[in-house]
Amino acid sequence: MTKARIGVYGMGTMGRALALNIAEKGFPVAVSNRSTGDLPQVVEAAQGLAGDLSAHESIADFLAALERPRSILFMIPSGAPLDQMLADILPLLDKGDLVIDGGNADFNDTRRRSAELTAQGIDFIGMGVSGGEEGARHGPSIMVGGRAETYARIRDIVEAIAARYKGDPCAALLGPDGAGHFVKTVHNGIEYADMQMIAEVYGLLRDAMGWSPDRAAALFSRWNEGPLQSYLIEITGKVLAAADPETGQPMVDVILDRAGQKGTGRWTVIEALKLGQSASTIEAAVAARSWSSMKALRVLGQEQLALPSGPAIDLDDAVLEAALTAAKITAYAQGLSLLQAASEAFDWQIDLARVAEIWRAGCIIRSAILDDIAGAVRDGLPQGSLILAPRFRAPVLGGLPALRKVVAQASAGGVPVPALSGALSYLEVMRRARGTANLIQAQRDFFGAHGFERTDREGQGFHGPWGQGSGQGG
Ligand code: 6PG
Repeated sequence: MTKARIGVYGMGTMGRALALNIAEKGFPVAVSNRSTGDLPQVVEAAQGLAGDLSAHESIADFLAALERPRSILFMIPSGAPLDQMLADILPLLDKGDLVIDGGNADFNDTRRRSAELTAQGIDFIGMGVSGGEEGARHGPSIMVGGRAETYARIRDIVEAIAARYKGDPCAALLGPDGAGHFVKTVHNGIEYADMQMIAEVYGLLRDAMGWSPDRAAALFSRWNEGPLQSYLIEITGKVLAAADPETGQPMVDVILDRAGQKGTGRWTVIEALKLGQSASTIEAAVAARSWSSMKALRVLGQEQLALPSGPAIDLDDAVLEAALTAAKITAYAQGLSLLQAASEAFDWQIDLARVAEIWRAGCIIRSAILDDIAGAVRDGLPQGSLILAPRFRAPVLGGLPALRKVVAQASAGGVPVPALSGALSYLEVMRRARGTANLIQAQRDFFGAHGFERTDREGQGFHGPWGQGSGQGG
């Protein structure tokens, strides 16, 4: 029997779908899993596919089925379970074998694992895979981190299984070690922001304007034909139109308002802050999920902090659409700035335009806007920021008054819109050459003699005439 080009370990939803995708593209693939009960079903599902899929109960058999040097894709949780697995399997590997982590890993772990395995002669790739089960089975977006020579070994497989945008595979090597997983993390951060901003518009329609889910569904479906066209807008329309088969109620109305989160959004915010960045739209989205989980507090809050309702909210579709578009551009701008900062800090040399290109299909944040983003990055971003890109001037400038109107009316009416507000604050700050940090600098100098720069002279370390009681001791 021919040896498999690649092994996939971990037959959860994503691992199984990727293995079938690989087999479908004609590559012989070996699979294994910790619990072996489901393996016959995977073999069954692979019947008739172009490539052989063999399933193996023991790790030894699994490894023996692979072409040498071996390439093993792990699709298991990327924290402690992967570390344990690597510790177990390492003695069975030979120098030159390749380990690929296809999970949602913390890029810090990826850098550590990459260094540890490379030191032992084992190649390592950290590979972010986006698109959920459907994407994994029929074409995900794949963000790869590792050495170029290593990627060359599996590039044909990766590009064959990836989604395509007008024929261009949505897969790329984005840099060494943790680059792929970092980009996937930021992808998820943008995903959080995008989802939260959509949910805030839904909240305005539902709570302030009294819209039914059906009516909102129609609006989102219509928006999916315009500048907001995206997978998330599309599924929002579908979700809002769905009925609960058990009760006949709109499905969305019987779902508890407590959002889960597995960590990638939080990691985006943590890494942004570590790099001296602030992705306010993503921060707001992560915070909103945390607040959503405080259901009991919110129930009590509704009782104890009741206020008369504010002025009626009246926002037309076009205003909401323009506001959401500007906010969405802001979320992407913040995500790209973060990627640029990380690329510089870790010397990854990430091609940001390529990132936008491989997000155009297959992944959860795929949207019409990404083709323009890729073009804008290729043209060169003024001061590195998407919000100043000539091709985004019209939606940002035109969307700003709409975003102000939405946030102002929401605030007056008592409807929370943290991510939209985060986007608005960022845009307002970035369109104001003179900020207020001169006062912050004065305060810092007053209590801590930290020094400041002056507007009228070169140099640093100037102090103010604060006198007695200041940190400078008068
Ligand atoms: C994707 C998704 C995927 C998954 C996230 C969701 O790109 O395919 O982002 O990775 O849905 O884990 O994360 P939360 O559970 O944190 O929402």
